[in-house]
Amino acid sequence: MKITKAVFPVAGMGTRFLPATKASPKEMLSLVDKPLIQYVVEEAVDAGIEQIIFVTGRSKNSIEDHFDRSVELELLLERKGDTKKLDLIRHISEMCEFSYVRQKEPKGLGHAILKAKNLVGDQPFAVLLGDDIIHTEKDPAIGQLIRVHEQTNSPVIAVERVPENEVSAYGVIDPESAEGRLNKIKGMVEKPPLDKAPSNLAIIGRYILSPEIFDFIESTAPDAQGEVQLTTALNDFLQHGPIYGYEFEGTRYDAGDKLGFLKATVEYALRSDKLGDRFRSYLSSLET
Ligand code: UTP
Repeated sequence: MKITKAVFPVAGMGTRFLPATKASPKEMLSLVDKPLIQYVVEEAVDAGIEQIIFVTGRSKNSIEDHFDRSVELELLLERKGDTKKLDLIRHISEMCEFSYVRQKEPKGLGHAILKAKNLVGDQPFAVLLGDDIIHTEKDPAIGQLIRVHEQTNSPVIAVERVPENEVSAYGVIDPESAEGRLNKIKGMVEKPPLDKAPSNLAIIGRYILSPEIFDFIESTAPDAQGEVQLTTALNDFLQHGPIYGYEFEGTRYDAGDKLGFLKATVEYALRSDKLGDRFRSYLSSLET
């Protein structure tokens, strides 16, 4: 079944980025000249996604506004005859269909995804997390996962090899077997201590899930922090069918973390057609 729907859970508190995220969402932090979330929406649209379901929470209204039409701004640009900027902002609301559902309290990623159950319906769907920004030349990361899903007809999770000292910051997969970039998963552990980590293959914020996952999330008990973990539901799902981990091609930035965000900012600015050269010479002026 063709994957046309994507769930974007954006209801987290963004505590790693305080105080910037006290009243505004981390997804709206700007990477060069676009909010983080727009990069991820464009990735999904480039991969053929037609409907995006945002799971939002408090202080997230600016995300809705960003993907809505801005009639006053459009009129102003029309009057000025600035068609370039007009196209730029019109394009944002026309990229695909946007729907919104609310997670009243941030009770974990699993709980957030469950909120999209009725809008997703009975079909496989993508999940993209707005703080993982993945740069690829032309093959969007979620599109790579969609192709693996077409071959395996099973859920697929993006994974990336991370340095040993970072393993305990991630969900980590226990691979049963591997064939090139494709790993069949035996189990998953959330934020394991280094000596308990089954591999250094960390789970990154891109997933293809089947609708059965909703039943598994519904029967997942909250953890000690009161959060319903997606990883727990995925582990239970393994009793029902296989799940694959795919080492996607591309460069990933953890833009929900201050250092990761700075790395992304520098590298996206260096890649920018308009700013790259000037920014590069500015950076080299700092070195001398
Ligand atoms: P994170 O683990 O990054 O949590 O969530 P967070 O609250 O956003 O940020 P920190 O760690 O406090 O800085 C991963 C993704 O899941 C979403 C977040 O918005 C983020 O995209 N999420 C998390 C929800 O939508 N609801 C939740 O209850 C938890």
